[in-house]
Amino acid sequence: MRYALLVSPSSNRVYAQSAPALAAAELLAVGQRVLGGALANVEQATFGSVDYVTFDLAELSELARGWLSNLAATFALFGLEEDGRLLPLTLDRWDQLPSDLITIQKYSGKTNEAFTKLLLNVTLAASAFATERRPLSVLDPLCGRGTTLNQALSYGFHATGVEVDKKDFEAYALFIQRWVKDHRLKHNAVQGSVKGNPKLDLELGVTKERFKAGDTLRLTYVSADTHAIAQVFQPRSFDLIVTDAPYGVQHGAHSGPDTARKPQELLQTALPVWRGALRPGGAIGIAWNQLVLRRTELARMLQEAGLEVCEFPQTFEHRVDSSIARDLIVARLTSR
Ligand SMILES: C[S@@+](CC[C@H](N)C(=O)[O-])C[C@H]1O[C@@H](n2cnc3c(N)ncnc32)[C@H](O)[C@@H]1O
Repeated sequence: MRYALLVSPSSNRVYAQSAPALAAAELLAVGQRVLGGALANVEQATFGSVDYVTFDLAELSELARGWLSNLAATFALFGLEEDGRLLPLTLDRWDQLPSDLITIQKYSGKTNEAFTKLLLNVTLAASAFATERRPLSVLDPLCGRGTTLNQALSYGFHATGVEVDKKDFEAYALFIQRWVKDHRLKHNAVQGSVKGNPKLDLELGVTKERFKAGDTLRLTYVSADTHAIAQVFQPRSFDLIVTDAPYGVQHGAHSGPDTARKPQELLQTALPVWRGALRPGGAIGIAWNQLVLRRTELARMLQEAGLEVCEFPQTFEHRVDSSIARDLIVARLTSR
């Protein structure tokens, strides 16, 4: 059976020409890692001036429908009939919270939302937990104003973020507490500190009933240098680590720590710390600017930190602007 995935107009706006290629790369990565290679003949197509990605899949299992519904690029999914007609299929979205959680914050230096979702998806797909539907624990150790945290919460995962920029900490702590109030979500928020670093703990219920039953999502947000993670959290606390590293160029509002230290110096010393925070079977996904750090160099640093770098069928590299060629790399901590 052949299928057609309608590429979301929002991904299209952001990546322009790269959107269908990134959608195909994500689809292929998920096919390889989660669907046992059952997905074949992935092609970019245009029907009626609109971008699609088409592919063959022997059986649209519940697992396959779930993953296909939640790809960052998925706007709609169709069965592609032999005569070219498109048969709409019902999506099974994982989102548990209103989508404005992810879209409403606008600030310079924000990681694109669709790309953040793609990075989380690909990292999850590479981990040993890809088919588990339990609330995983996600850490963004360079979390800015929380794009990864918001996406993780939206999936029903527990989210932890560490950010050195105090302005970012204050802005996101304020935003998220106001957002849960505005959406009348039952929650408990506590602002305190851990080892001298300011911290926000927020526990929220997707519904009143779930909050009452203690079935809550936990957000932990710490204002600290990422190297403090070993002191602040227990080792092996996180299933997934997902982060967008500083680009090493003057980018948006971040002119302090973001540019003061070269990305390779930061990653070289931070990777062993992050690895210590990862649970066996977990995976780490990093987006970075390849114009300031070569892929082979980053792969070497990950291997030296004891992680196994994953190879995907197609590259995720794409241009953000003249000084940023973004790519992603994912590495696993094997259970052995
Ligand atoms: C590319 S931005 C991430 C943006 C974030 N994904 C968002 O959408 O808001 C990288 C972030 O890393 C932070 N950072 C840089 N060095 C750090 C360090 N040593 N410890 C913690 N955060 C750091 C920067 O302040 C910046 O917010």
